[in-house]
Amino acid sequence: GPAIPALVTEHAIMSRSFSLSLHRFGADVMAAVASRVADVTFQARRLKADANGVAAFLQVPDDDANARAVADRVAALPARFRKVLVLGIGGSALGAQAALDALKPLRPAGGREVRILANLDPVSIADAMAWFDPADTLLNPVTKSGTTVETLTQFALFADRIRAARGEAGLKEGVVVTTDPQKGALRRVARRLDCPSLEVPPRVGGRFSVLTPVGLFPIACAGHDVTAMRTGAREVIAAFTDGDAAAHPSVLAAAAQVEWMRRGAAVRVLWAYCDRFAAMGDWFSQLWGESLGKPKDDGAVGSQPVRAIGSTDQHSLLQLFMEGPRDKTLTFVTVGGPRPAMPVPDLSALDPDFAEFAHHDAAEVFDALRCGTMAGLVEAGRPVAHLHVPVLDEAAVGALFAHFEIETALAGYLLGIDPFDQPGVEAGKKFAHGLLGRPGMEAYGTAARRILGTEDAQ
Ligand code: PA5
Repeated sequence: GPAIPALVTEHAIMSRSFSLSLHRFGADVMAAVASRVADVTFQARRLKADANGVAAFLQVPDDDANARAVADRVAALPARFRKVLVLGIGGSALGAQAALDALKPLRPAGGREVRILANLDPVSIADAMAWFDPADTLLNPVTKSGTTVETLTQFALFADRIRAARGEAGLKEGVVVTTDPQKGALRRVARRLDCPSLEVPPRVGGRFSVLTPVGLFPIACAGHDVTAMRTGAREVIAAFTDGDAAAHPSVLAAAAQVEWMRRGAAVRVLWAYCDRFAAMGDWFSQLWGESLGKPKDDGAVGSQPVRAIGSTDQHSLLQLFMEGPRDKTLTFVTVGGPRPAMPVPDLSALDPDFAEFAHHDAAEVFDALRCGTMAGLVEAGRPVAHLHVPVLDEAAVGALFAHFEIETALAGYLLGIDPFDQPGVEAGKKFAHGLLGRPGMEAYGTAARRILGTEDAQ
């Protein structure tokens, strides 16, 4: 079979978005990846073939109809809506939050203030309630299934606020629903209210849905260029579907991660030297954790995603990474720009220790800390990959979404499990519905109380 062509891969087509280096992942591990290239390319072909079914995320950046629906909807928003409150959870919230945080410094002109309420913690809801004003805030409930307890409960609370302030007409004008085209409570609400709605393509799984209207609408409301984001994603996906899979960074990354998992890696660290990447780490954690943590034969597969932020976590998690169990891979993420120039003033007259930093840019000091930590980990024999993003703009964010989605889905195929299902999260939902008294599900509530006993059950 064909050999893995390079361990440092910088696709011409992708070079403006990011580069990935697996140099420090261990020569023997990469040799094992090279020896498995036939299986890797076979699984990559299976994944591509599934683009018409379970792997529909590969077609999302080409979905012009839904992108146009988003653009039309944003253009038609009444001018009074200067703010947008998104309600959602899991795959219906994390991707949009990741993009909004990553792109925050771009501050596009005319962008609306977009806030995402991604939990049912009453204190967080009260905080959002205080911010929410039906006169200037659009409500965007997002749920693919249209049945999620948290999102429906949030919607009841905020829709009631709108109705109290502006009546049914306020709901019709002040709500944009994002949900399944046919099914679920939110679709029925959209029909009943005759309010605007956007569609989540039924074949695209929640955690792979950020580039559908689920993420595109909030990101576009904030004024970001979602066309560039889709283009960035499309380039990465086209290089996978139309190019040499064995030369694709996402394929190599998946193969290398799986090889490490076979050798006992139980933890996958994504360590970004970029504060505004924290939510991207949360999005990735869901993608990696929920897609790969599955039963297999008599055991289980998966690795624990951990998101770290540098240099902050050098003062927290680094000791564990450096000298703790040898069960981790680490992917460093660095970002070039945009960033302000920030030369460090010379305070050496005050104290000579400041001379070391004087006249370096703050970014140089920051990067020296990252390099020092990487060098230490490499010297300690820990597997380190490095993903560099020259410019963190919309195209790069789209490219990163596509990269991590391909890497995760292909890792699932290489591990021999279905990366697109999540049967393990269903059991708890049944118990919760039972406890809440859903007709026909009372037995689950009784069972939950019996299992938990009086100490833990409500
Ligand atoms: O990835 C997934 O499928 C889940 O995390 C869902 O996104 C999450 O449960 C929310 O589901 P829904 O969009 O149906 O409300």
